This record gives sequence, structure tokens and C-alpha cells, in this order.
Amino acid sequence: MFSAFRMGFLGVHAGSLKNKTVVITGASAGLGATLAVECAQQGARLVLLARNAERLEAVARECEQLGSEVLTVVGDVAIAEDGRRLVEAAIERFGRIDYLVANAGISMWTEFAAIEDVTLFRTLMEVNYLGAVHCVHPALPHLKKSKGLFVAISSIQGQVGVPLHTGYSASKHALQGFCDALRMEVAESGVGVMTVLLHWLKGTELRQRALGKDGKALGDASREHRAEAVSLEKAAQAIVRGMQKRRRQLYVPRRLRLLAMVHALWPALAEWVVKGKVAREEG
Ligand SMILES: NC(=O)c1ccc[n+]([C@@H]2O[C@H](COP(=O)([O-])OP(=O)(O)OC[C@H]3O[C@@H](n4cnc5c(N)ncnc54)[C@H](OP(=O)(O)O)[C@@H]3O)[C@@H](O)[C@H]2O)c1
Repeated sequence: MFSAFRMGFLGVHAGSLKNKTVVITGASAGLGATLAVECAQQGARLVLLARNAERLEAVARECEQLGSEVLTVVGDVAIAEDGRRLVEAAIERFGRIDYLVANAGISMWTEFAAIEDVTLFRTLMEVNYLGAVHCVHPALPHLKKSKGLFVAISSIQGQVGVPLHTGYSASKHALQGFCDALRMEVAESGVGVMTVLLHWLKGTELRQRALGKDGKALGDASREHRAEAVSLEKAAQAIVRGMQKRRRQLYVPRRLRLLAMVHALWPALAEWVVKGKVAREEG
């Protein structure tokens, strides 16, 4: 009865992705590519954006082999015009947008005091925060028509700061604040906003591409993830389930919500836990 109440009154309903149009940014690698494949398996039509055309096409071909119709758009989310082009191309090809997944992202791994050029902060904000804004702003009228869902791929760092990630944590906090405010503004129009707060993921290039103290990608100097990181497949499956249930906030893995709770109630304890984890990744 409680679930019927939730479904009826709160507009929460499990929906299939079959023939839905799903737009995913940062789909040429890592989580975005795995999400595209997962959505293709569920029968979605896809619009995929990234800067690397060759890798984007390879992901598109994999999705097409699963029976999905796919449109690729080469672009950079840091450029507002590219967000607008993405939305226009999606509407021209498929006529609607049901889900917009703002996934494109970039990280950092360096102590704040060691940073040589603070431009690095601007880059992180332009991709992780403004990159999402640049896509959802032109997409909003179409999401209103479809009563669709905006999905922001964030991190637990959107709620809890992590050492060596000052600029990344700040950009994901900005994204979280934006989504929390937008959710209230658009609720009555039937548009949902889901934030995804992830733990570390295994098998992505985020750490190799993370910016170091000189503002350049760390490459081989980056750290490997430890065993507790989540696999891309598990994360993508959890996100698609969350999209179907139109969740407002999704922690992956679910136990990660404990850290957010501890942080709200006893921040010093949460900081001790986080510092210990980062020190182990460093070691
Ligand atoms: N990996 C983790 O441990 C982890 C943890 C928490 C949250 N996340 C979040 O998950 C998301 C995906 O990260 P990932 O781990 O899959 O990283 P990844 O393997 O480095 O993939 C990042 C994707 O974003 C694209 N991208 C980067 N900058 C872009 C830009 N300016 N414009 C358009 N596309 C851009 C890249 O493609 P091109 O280079 O072809 O443009 C690539 O497809 C990010 O938002 C990240 O913050 C990851």
C-alpha cells in the first residue's frame, strides 16, 4: 500500500527504457560507455556525446549491434553551444528526449598547496558543473514535454569533501546544489532530477586523466583503485534501475549513504574515515 501511495501521489513509477531516447554525455569511455551499452540492452534509442570521435563511434557500433538506434555528436560539454547542438541533434533525429544523463567528468589528484596554476579549478567547474548546466538548460523544454528525467552523475564528493580533490569536490558540490534547487523548480512540470553519488569505480580512465599540480593529466603517475571500488557494470546497472524508478538520489553502492549520514551527524568522524581511505589509496 505504501508503494502504491508513493507511485500514485509522488509520481514514482518504474518505467521501461524501450524506445525511450536517452542522451548521455561522456559516452566514449568509462561509465558513460558502459551506461550506453546497458541502455542499449534495455531497448533505448541513444544520443551519445564526447570529444573523441573515434572512440565514440566504437561505443555506438557496440550499441547498434545490440539493436539500438544511435546518434553520435562530437562535442565538448564545457562549451555551451555544444550542449545546445547536442539537444538540437537529438530532437531532429528522435523528436524527443526522455532521459538526459550528464556524465562527462574530469578529476584531480593533488594537494591544494602544491597547485602551480589555479586554472585547474576553472577546468573542473567548466566540465563537471557547467558541463551539466550547458546540456540540461536547452533540454529542459523537451524533458517537460516527455515528463523526463535529468540524471547528474556525481560522486559522494558532492556531499563529503575528500583531500587531494579540493577542486573536484567543489565542482560536485556545485552540481549537487544545482540539482537540489532545480528538482524543486521543475517538480510540478513532471520532470525528475536524479543525482548519482558514486564511490570509486574500477576500470575507468578518470584517474589517468585526473589533473596534477601542473594542471596536466597524471597519466601513468596515477594510482590504481583498490579492491573496494565498484565495477562499471554494477554501477551502470544500478543507475539504470534508478532511472527506471525515477529515484531522486542514488548512492552506489547503497552503503555509501552511511558516510553521508555520519558526515551530517558527526563530521569529524566522517573526515577521519575519508582521510584514512585516501591515505590507503596513496600508499
Ligand atoms: N571513476 C570513478 O572512480 C568515479 C567516482 C565517482 C564519480 N565518477 C564520475 O563518473 C563520471 C564518468 O567518469 P569515468 O570514471 O567514466 O571517467 P573516464 O573513464 O575518464 O570517462 C570520462 C568521459 O567523459 C568524457 N569527457 C571528459 N571531458 C569532457 C568534455 N569536456 N566534454 C565532453 N566529454 C568529456 C570523456 O570523453 P572524451 O575524452 O572523448 O571527451 C569520457 O568519455 C564523471 O562525472 C566522474 O566524476 C567517477
